[in-house]
Amino acid sequence: MPKTIIVSNRLPVKVTKQDDAYQLSSSEGGLATGLGSIYKQDDNLWVGWPGLEIDRHDDQLSVTEQLKELSLMPVFLSQDEINQYYEGFSNEVLWPVFHYYASTYAHYAEANWECYQRVNQKFCDAILEVANPGDTIWVHDYQLILLPKLIRDARPDVSIGFFQHIPFPSDEMFRLIPWRSELLEGMLGADLIGFHTFDDVRHFLSAVQRLLPVQVSANIITSGERAIVIESFPMGIDDKKYGNLSQQPNVKIEAELIKETFKNQKLILSIDRLDYSKGILQRLHALEVLFEKHPELITKITLYMIVVPSRDQVPQYKELRDNIDKKVGNINARYRTLEWSPIQYFYKSFPIETLSALFSTADVCLITPMRDGMNLVSKEYVASRMHNDGVLILSEMAGASKELIDAIIVNPSNVQEVSRAIVKSINMPKAEQARRMVQMRQNVSKFNISHWVKIFMDRLSEVKQMQRSMQTR
Ligand code: G6P
Repeated sequence: MPKTIIVSNRLPVKVTKQDDAYQLSSSEGGLATGLGSIYKQDDNLWVGWPGLEIDRHDDQLSVTEQLKELSLMPVFLSQDEINQYYEGFSNEVLWPVFHYYASTYAHYAEANWECYQRVNQKFCDAILEVANPGDTIWVHDYQLILLPKLIRDARPDVSIGFFQHIPFPSDEMFRLIPWRSELLEGMLGADLIGFHTFDDVRHFLSAVQRLLPVQVSANIITSGERAIVIESFPMGIDDKKYGNLSQQPNVKIEAELIKETFKNQKLILSIDRLDYSKGILQRLHALEVLFEKHPELITKITLYMIVVPSRDQVPQYKELRDNIDKKVGNINARYRTLEWSPIQYFYKSFPIETLSALFSTADVCLITPMRDGMNLVSKEYVASRMHNDGVLILSEMAGASKELIDAIIVNPSNVQEVSRAIVKSINMPKAEQARRMVQMRQNVSKFNISHWVKIFMDRLSEVKQMQRSMQTR
C-alpha cells in the first residue's frame, strides 16, 4: 500500500540528554498535532532532525529505535552541519531575506550554501531508503527547499507536496540571493507548492517568471513535461484543544490566580519566539508612546510579555535578546511603582496549561510582527475565548490578518497607531468585543488544522491525477 512521508527540518518531538540516556517527549506544536492523523497511521512516517547533535554511533542506533516506535525517522546532523546548514544558511540567509531583513542580517557564505545542499541531499538519501513508487511525500519549510527536486530526480514516480511556513518575499528581495535560481528549481520538483497567503503565491510566481525559463499561466507553472500548481492554504490550529484546555479545572484555577494578581489592571498579553521579525522592540516602543500620551494609564495596564528562547547560537538573536532586556529594564525603571510594573517579561517557555490560563484571562492580545507567515498564537488566543470577550490587536504583516479581519489591524512600525489601538482595545464595549470575537472564533473553528491538512492532501492527489491525464493525452 502506498504510504505518506512527512519531512521537516525538526521532528515533532523534543529529544533531551539526561546523564547518558536520551529522553523523548512529544511536541505540542500545531504542525505535530495536525499531521498526527497522517504520520501515525499504517506505514506512514515523519523524517527529520532530532534537534541536537548525537555523534556516537551507539546513541544514534538507540535513538533511532526509540523514534521508530513513534513512526519517526531521524536524520542526524553533525555540529558543523548544524552551524552551516541550519544556522548559517537557513537562519542567516533564507530567514532574513524572506522576512525583509536582507540588508541588515543576510550573510551570504559559499561554504554555508554548500553545506545546505549537502544536508538537503542527506535528507533525500534518508527518504530514498523508505520511499517507493506511488508514495506521497510532503516536505515542509525553508530549511528543505532543494529537497523536492532531489527526490523528483531520483524517484520521478512519487507525489511531492511542498509547504512553506514563512512568507515568500517580493521578487526584488528574493533576487538578491546568489543562489536564487537553484532555490526555485528545488521547489519546482514538487507537484503542489503551498503558502499561507495569496500574496506569497503572487511573489513566488513572479520570481519564477522572471528568473526561470518556464511558462507561468495563472497559478500553474509548466516546466518541461510537468505542470506544478501553486496555491494558498492558510494554516489553522486545533481549536477544540484550546477551547477544552481553557475549561480544565487546573487551568481555571491558574486563570483565577492571574485574575486576582492583575485585578486592578487591564492585562495585555504578548507571546513570541525570540525573533527580530516579531517586532518586539517596536511593540515596547509603542508602550512608551502610550505612557507618554496617556499618563493616566500608568498603573492601569500591564504588558505580560513572554519571549520563547530560540536560535540563541545565531549572533543576531543574542543581540536582540540583550536589546529587549535593556528596553524592558528602561521602561520598568522609569514607570514602575512599589506595587506595579508596566512589563512582566519572561524569557522562557511555559507549559501549555499556563499559556491557556493566560489566553483565557488576558483582556488584550497584542501581536505585532514586522512580517510573519501566519502567526498561530493569534488563533490560539481567539480559540481560548470561550466567553466571546477580549480583543486581538494584530499586525497587518501577519498572514493571519487576512483571515482575522475582526481584530484591530495595525501597521507594526506605526507605534502611534499601535498605542492608539491599545487605548481602543481597553475601552472597547463588551458588545463590540463579542461581535468581533464571534466572527473570529467561527473562522478559526471552520478553517482548523484538520481542514488545512485535508485540503492540502486532497489537492495534491487532484494535481497528480491532472498530471497523469495530461501525460496520457
Ligand atoms: C518557524 C519556522 C519553522 C521552525 C520554527 C522554530 O515557525 O517556520 O520551520 O521550526 O520557526 O524555529 P527553529 O529554528 O527552532 O526550528
